[in-house]
Amino acid sequence: MSAFQNLITENKDGISIITINRPDKLNALNRQTIVEIGEAIKQAIADKSVAGIIITGSGPKAFVAGADIKEFMSLSGDQGKAMARSGQEIFQVIENSPKPVIAAVNGFALGGGCELSMACHLRVASENAQFGQPEVNLGLIPGYGGTQRLVRYIGRSKALELMMTAGMIPAQQALQLGLVNYVVAPDALIAKCIELLNVIKTKSPEAISSVIRATNAYDGTQQGFEAELTEFGKCFTTEDIKEGINAFIEKRKPQFAR
Ligand code: COA
Repeated sequence: MSAFQNLITENKDGISIITINRPDKLNALNRQTIVEIGEAIKQAIADKSVAGIIITGSGPKAFVAGADIKEFMSLSGDQGKAMARSGQEIFQVIENSPKPVIAAVNGFALGGGCELSMACHLRVASENAQFGQPEVNLGLIPGYGGTQRLVRYIGRSKALELMMTAGMIPAQQALQLGLVNYVVAPDALIAKCIELLNVIKTKSPEAISSVIRATNAYDGTQQGFEAELTEFGKCFTTEDIKEGINAFIEKRKPQFAR
């Protein structure tokens, strides 16, 4: 994989690990870093050897402590909107990745960091992780999809509380609220993500992509059900369904092509 200024990327047995590497700034997302995340995700999606992706932060303290506040100085309204739009577009690349993406939340996940974790399909948090949307402290609001995704994950009432109080919630509370999938010891974090991806890796990649597309289409209306129908129908046109059903009939484990 190509070198990045603010990321470390590695391919570990078919799992792409993207580490945001600005630990002295608590991995705050400056423009360069967000663009690089988008590039790294696109590379991992295009790489046939990659079955799943992990995004994490460097150092023991932070996943990502937010967008880089210093870059907000002297932005006009239009510039602020444009910046948020391009960040949202990159986070949508993550959310729409046909390969599973897990956020390994190794500390503070604040503002854009909480939003980045929510753009991932699953979240595993270390015991010291803290989540929050503290933008109102700065006279701002979440701009990378936080007002929308937080409502989906924890419901309107708690989402509003978190955004309006700018409070932080510890990993265990995030687990209770359904924001994260697992909480583990810090030194078990990446191993837990790999364990999850190793399970997903044995399933039909085409079906996994369909699950992601159909689930992303959820908007509480009939449109989501229609998307499910489309994806369900598509499954019947894949090689994976032939292999999956044959394997079941032949009483063996399926071997899906990647
Ligand atoms: N943007 C830019 N720089 C940030 C940052 C951010 N979102 N979050 C942390 N940093 C920088 C600090 O400025 C500091 O840099 P410096 O050493 O050059 O001064 C460094 O990271 C360490 O942060 P510090 O505040 O000293 O650590 P702490 O342990 O005392 O506090 C936090 C940790 C997370 C509570 C605190 O850094 C914080 O509140 N960050 C901002 C969170 C936020 O509002 N995020 C939403 C942004 S929209």
